Amino acid sequence: MPAIEIKPDVYWIGVNDRTTDLFEGLWPIAKEGVSYNSYLIDDEKKAIIDLTKSFKGDEYLDQIDEVTDISQVDFVVVNHMEPDHSGLIRTLRRIAPRVTFLGSAKTKDMLESFFSIKENVRVVNDGDTLSLGKRTLKFFSTPFLHWPETMMTYEVSHRILFPCDAFGGYGAIRGAIFDDECKDFDFYQKEALRYYVNIVASFSARVLGAIEKLADLPIDIIAPSHRLIWRKNPSLIVNLYKNWAEYAVGKTEPGITLIYGSMYGFTESMMDAVAQGISREDVPLEIFDASRTHPSYILPSLWTKAGVMIGAPTYEVSMFPPVEAVLNMAAHKHIKNKKVAYFGSYGWSGGARKNLEKIIEPLKWELADTLEFKGCPTEEELKKGEEFGRRFAELIKKGT
Ligand code: FEO
Repeated sequence: MPAIEIKPDVYWIGVNDRTTDLFEGLWPIAKEGVSYNSYLIDDEKKAIIDLTKSFKGDEYLDQIDEVTDISQVDFVVVNHMEPDHSGLIRTLRRIAPRVTFLGSAKTKDMLESFFSIKENVRVVNDGDTLSLGKRTLKFFSTPFLHWPETMMTYEVSHRILFPCDAFGGYGAIRGAIFDDECKDFDFYQKEALRYYVNIVASFSARVLGAIEKLADLPIDIIAPSHRLIWRKNPSLIVNLYKNWAEYAVGKTEPGITLIYGSMYGFTESMMDAVAQGISREDVPLEIFDASRTHPSYILPSLWTKAGVMIGAPTYEVSMFPPVEAVLNMAAHKHIKNKKVAYFGSYGWSGGARKNLEKIIEPLKWELADTLEFKGCPTEEELKKGEEFGRRFAELIKKGT
């Protein structure tokens, strides 16, 4: 893609990534892709705000050359050191040797440990400004969004906030770069929530803190480093992030996430009965087969919904590992205060339930009900399963 002028002297530059399978080596993006947005301010002094991953380097460097002489770049603002935004730092320094890197004190440390860069690094503190000529940058310290060094940069005359990861989302740019051009908002919102829960959610208190800190800042454009630039309605993405962050402090939706795994279909038969019971109470339900669904796609439902129904057989005196893996990731992401029910088959001795109790205890999930059965469920047990599902759905309806 060519460079795109978003305001006089301010350009989007960046690349679309449709070939990386796993973001951070962990989260699937093969179908959705991701964009690494970077920004160039072509003033008397030339500044780039965040770079990109070391990927499609020629395309990215050509975009800079379209606008200005790349060797004359004066500053690179490093809002965040994760290599999806810093990967081209050494390449850029080779081409523009006089460049000065600007970042927080922690960024200074990381520049040395990640890239052995010690020279031409300037620490900027909260509220510091930098004049580029016509344009002025102001820096805001916003640590742990989502690393300790993270900060945001604000361009004063156009009132543009460059928040790097915050207010971003998964998904490659699909032609539209601005919010008002976006024709697939449902996809956008779904992937932005998945990105939020995968990448940012553990730091939700920091998200709320940053939103409060910047509440009085006049903002016309929010230009994150992943996916859409918000120029028509920047408050929309801020409100979405605020809403998602509030799930960390007790807010829930009246719905149920049903996560199950089944080796030979016994637990799956019961899952169908339980789901039937839940649907009788008209409670929103999302069903995930843990063996075939990456936790990345299950976490948004777990993050937002009040109830968790777990169906897992016992496997070697413990919980069926694919289901256990989802719960362990939920624990890692600090998904707390849920109501949970468990059902599952066992062959000769149980163990899954005990394992579940151990996992959910530190998460403060309340185990409301359980249903275990030996081998293949009988007709009578399936009827019990339906009632078990209905009862749990009723509990969720009452409690939210
Ligand atoms: Fe987009 Fe935390 O990197």
